[in-house]
Amino acid sequence: MKFDIVVVGSINMDVVASCEKYPQYGDTEFCHSIRMLPGGKGANQAASAAHLGKRVAMVGSVGKDSAGNQMLENLRSKGVDVSGVIETDKAGTGTFIALVDESGENTMVGTKGANDALTEQDIETAFSGLEAKILLIQMETSKESILAAMKLAKQRGMFVILDPAPAGGITPEAFQYADLVLPNSQETEAITGIQVTDEESALMAAEKIRALGIPNVIVKLGGKGSLVYQGGKATFVRSIEVKAVDTVGAGDCYAGAIADALIDTNDLAEAARFASIAAGIKVSRTGGQDAIPTLKEVQNYSRPVIG
Ligand code: RIB
Repeated sequence: MKFDIVVVGSINMDVVASCEKYPQYGDTEFCHSIRMLPGGKGANQAASAAHLGKRVAMVGSVGKDSAGNQMLENLRSKGVDVSGVIETDKAGTGTFIALVDESGENTMVGTKGANDALTEQDIETAFSGLEAKILLIQMETSKESILAAMKLAKQRGMFVILDPAPAGGITPEAFQYADLVLPNSQETEAITGIQVTDEESALMAAEKIRALGIPNVIVKLGGKGSLVYQGGKATFVRSIEVKAVDTVGAGDCYAGAIADALIDTNDLAEAARFASIAAGIKVSRTGGQDAIPTLKEVQNYSRPVIG
């Protein structure tokens, strides 16, 4: 089967508590709401690229449980092909608990669960029947699955986008197979040791990442924007101005949108402009994957109707 983008990554059930502010250590507090939402960096990125109009295949692993069934059904409903997702009885579906405060900021803990059961063999089987132009991958599945997928994608001539997230799960061996990485500030610091606070420090970090052998880099600075480094040229792309209400999955929406745009253009700065609009719209609304905008919404934002 032919796709634009194959996403290899995590599929999780998110339990999201929205509260006024984070509780103090040891406190018990009421919150505004608790929702069970489809999540996982991989699934969020697949949903983002599909919402924005591309043909997307997902490769991953869920448990043989009701959360796994729900996560698969959700991806199907978004038009994502899930024939490369295995259902394992070795572990339950990955589950994350996220706290979102009134500024939209989030803090999470979670289990990798079934995501960690994805094997090299599973990757080979999933890739045997598919063709895609881009591999989009993160670091929330097993190390063997990440390395196998990236290696295979390079052998097949795919453009490999690595979102090196989460910061605690970075596998440096993966960098040799990446054509583009898009770390946020925590991940950039974990990779380079540089604390990224502005354009200048982001450029220093991007150059350090380039020196690791990765040709294209986007250092993300959240609401401030992103530093795009391509062919030795740096461009700073500002984020759109929005009132942030929920940042869960914002980076995933951005990564899916970058992959989406790179199907249509080789210009990374142009892709970053598109992705910052998509991610900006996402953080301005509550919800997980359902808050990701459609292509029309992103295009309407770029070209507001006058009169
Ligand atoms: O990036 C946000 C995602 O990280 C959440 O959906 C959670 O499941 C974790 O994978």
